[in-house]
Amino acid sequence: MRLLRLTVKDFRNLSEVEVEPSVHATIAVGQNGQGKTNLLEALYYLCTLKPLRAGRLQELVRFGAGQATVTGRFLLRGAERVISVQVQDGARSVFVDGKKAASLEEYFGGVAVVAFTPDDLHVVKGGPDGRRAFLDRAVFNRFPAYLKEGRAYARALKNRNKLLKDQAEPAYLAAYDEALAQAGARVWTRRRALMEELSGRAAAAFERIGRTADPATFRYVPHGLKLPPECPFGAADEGALSAHLLQRLGARLPRDGERGYTSVGPHADDVALELGGRSARDYASQGQQRAFVLAWKVAEIENLSAALGHLPLLLLDDVSSELDPERNAYLMAYLSHSGAQVVLTTTDGSLVRAAAGEDTAWLSVRGGAVRAEGS
Ligand SMILES: Nc1ncnc2c1ncn2[C@@H]1O[C@H](COP(=O)(O)OP(=O)(O)OP(=O)(O)O)[C@@H](O)[C@H]1O
Ligand SMILES: [Mg+2]
Repeated sequence: MRLLRLTVKDFRNLSEVEVEPSVHATIAVGQNGQGKTNLLEALYYLCTLKPLRAGRLQELVRFGAGQATVTGRFLLRGAERVISVQVQDGARSVFVDGKKAASLEEYFGGVAVVAFTPDDLHVVKGGPDGRRAFLDRAVFNRFPAYLKEGRAYARALKNRNKLLKDQAEPAYLAAYDEALAQAGARVWTRRRALMEELSGRAAAAFERIGRTADPATFRYVPHGLKLPPECPFGAADEGALSAHLLQRLGARLPRDGERGYTSVGPHADDVALELGGRSARDYASQGQQRAFVLAWKVAEIENLSAALGHLPLLLLDDVSSELDPERNAYLMAYLSHSGAQVVLTTTDGSLVRAAAGEDTAWLSVRGGAVRAEGS
């Protein structure tokens, strides 16, 4: 997979941008507040239909403009295809080769991207919500159908919470629990599948980066699931998970009714990160915590590449300034050896020079304008 050309119109502060990226590294350099993250966000949004930063879709449209458009020409499995996304009035429309996409499957069609931002580096220290969002981006990268499935769960959860707040009749609620349990079981199944693929790779990557003899573990912790010992989480099929969630929701109903929200289910899941059997959040150094995140991202790249048969596009937003020199050197060497197509942003080109080669496309970003250096 290769991005041949990116066109951005009225996306955040980028009024009109045209980029021809390198097959390998494309490096966008600019001062603070000029539009570097916006450029990566445009590309990330194009490839995932998820905003890189939380918020409302309308925020993506340039102030004073009617709509934002991002278009990418890709070379994918030997064929060229153009995908395009438009945001207007808080809603998005997607196009493939100029025509409205018939489905999201058609739209994504094997396009894969892994992004790495400074926010990611705080995921070990932060709360479970950050780790869930982090996990879900990886799940979605691996299983694009998860975009819909995750939303179906969120919708069902919102409905139940509203009914709880409105003190609806238990019998009425029970009808909703069924849908919630099914959607929740799908979320658990997807997250578990991703973690089964990823955790071994991430532990191995940590061994290379962590600079400690202690092994790192990455473990998925589904919330509120009390399965019988003869049917552990790893072995339970989706139907069994759904039945268990339904039963748990029923058991919690009186309490949930008092509190006005749903207290069990995937919306409270977490990922346990441990170093030598101890919580990385409580015991690992800052550099080691960052190594966890770096190892996770490396694992994601390897895993996607194994699953898809091609490397994903990599987007790194000003990460080098946040890593210590040795880990940054590891990352830059990894990028240049991987052969992946990567777009990096930085305020200081010297930090990422090790990822650059003769074919690097250097861009300068200033006031929302992106120019190829030397042109
Ligand atoms: N919808 C929008 N319309 C116009 N400008 C916007 C919009 N959303 C954000 N901006 C502007 O984009 C600029 C920030 O761009 P961005 O986050 O890409 O900067 P950056 O180059 O990554 O900076 P830093 O190095 O500090 O991370 C800000 O000036 C902000 O006001
Ligand atoms: Mg930025």
